[in-house]
Amino acid sequence: MYLRQLSLTNFRNYTRLSLELPRHTTILQGANAQGKTNFLEAIYYLSAARSPYANSDTQLVNWLAKDDDLPHARVEAELVRKNANTRIEITLTRSAERQDAYRKHVRINGLPKRVMDLLGQANTVLFVPQDMTLVDGAPAKRRRYLDATLCQIDSHYCRALTRYNRVLERRNHLLRGLRERGGDRGQMDFWDEGLARGGAEIISRRQETILELETLAQPIHRRLSGDHERLRLRYVPSFDPRQSNGDEHQLRFDLNLPPPISIPMDAAAIQQAFLAALHASRAEQIQRGMTLIGPHRDDVRFFDGQIDLHIYGSRGQQRTAVLALKLAEVRLMTQTTGEHPILLLDEVMSELDADRRRYLCEQIQQAEQALVTTTDLRALTPEVLEGAAVYHVSQGRLEQAQS
Ligand SMILES: Nc1ncnc2c1ncn2[C@@H]1O[C@H](COP(=O)(O)OP(=O)(O)OP(=O)(O)O)[C@@H](O)[C@H]1O
Ligand SMILES: [Mg+2]
Repeated sequence: MYLRQLSLTNFRNYTRLSLELPRHTTILQGANAQGKTNFLEAIYYLSAARSPYANSDTQLVNWLAKDDDLPHARVEAELVRKNANTRIEITLTRSAERQDAYRKHVRINGLPKRVMDLLGQANTVLFVPQDMTLVDGAPAKRRRYLDATLCQIDSHYCRALTRYNRVLERRNHLLRGLRERGGDRGQMDFWDEGLARGGAEIISRRQETILELETLAQPIHRRLSGDHERLRLRYVPSFDPRQSNGDEHQLRFDLNLPPPISIPMDAAAIQQAFLAALHASRAEQIQRGMTLIGPHRDDVRFFDGQIDLHIYGSRGQQRTAVLALKLAEVRLMTQTTGEHPILLLDEVMSELDADRRRYLCEQIQQAEQALVTTTDLRALTPEVLEGAAVYHVSQGRLEQAQS
């Protein structure tokens, strides 16, 4: 798939932009703080209906536009896929009730749709320098990565995740109530059931995806690391999934010691173990007023052979693993949807050494559409530059460079 046309209105520092995009490669070159990241963010926003950076949509609306009579921002694009062309549009309008809040309106081919309906339309793989810390960063980052990837290709997962988070919130509310005011602890049963059911669905899908990503990442990783290391990815749940009798729940495995345990694939078995773990740790959860286990506390580990890259990986090893993972994500999306996702690469070349850079440039050339930002065109190979549309970005405006 690719975007043929993109329009931005009051999105970040773009007051107004309308651009025809070619298939294959578009490069945005510009100094710092001109709008390179904002441009890619807008495209990602169309695919995920949320920004990878902003906590609230309000941040996306151009500052100057906020004083308008009817302040709004819009991202609009024409998406070309194998069977159909689709016009997708997200508009943010200021909420009538609160000055600092914006409402999201989605239209697909001119018809109003739910935000959820946007997922699965445009698929993108965004690769940014911050991803380089995926391996040694906090677990929340890895969960977010996995959720964002899955939500784009599996709307069922996305809905399950939303439901889970809602149950989790209500359950935590009850835990705090029991801690502060006491009451019938049997009330927990209902929420434990719900949490375990939804949680198992999420864990099982995440686990499946991790295994797929591992298979797809391994050959890339072998190529990048010179054929002698073997990348392994492991989903690490926050409770022991092998234990379901619930008598004395405790973490029987050490997360830091390879090889990590493998967990059941079957959602029913996960649900049973999760439920047992919830029961076993009920007293502690009430005491702390929160749910201490579940997919919201799980993690993913990266191993190079037997070495846990999180702990023992060199910076280079960690980066190689991330690059392999990102490129595996491209293949996973292609495999799942039958279409090539749009590649969005924000200034990542400068994070890589010459060999990995060359490899990534080859991948750009093979992409159906890639949008690449850089402060310095020399970061890209002549093969990528040749045939690419090159724009110079300055203060939220694009100007096509002379070729
Ligand atoms: N809501 C907004 N309204 C107007 N301008 C904004 C808004 N949000 C961010 N900006 C500004 O947009 C400018 C461009 O940001 P962007 O992150 O796209 O820069 P960049 O070209 O990627 O720079 P760098 O090379 O440093 O990464 C920044 O100066 C930022 O302050
Ligand atoms: Mg940037």
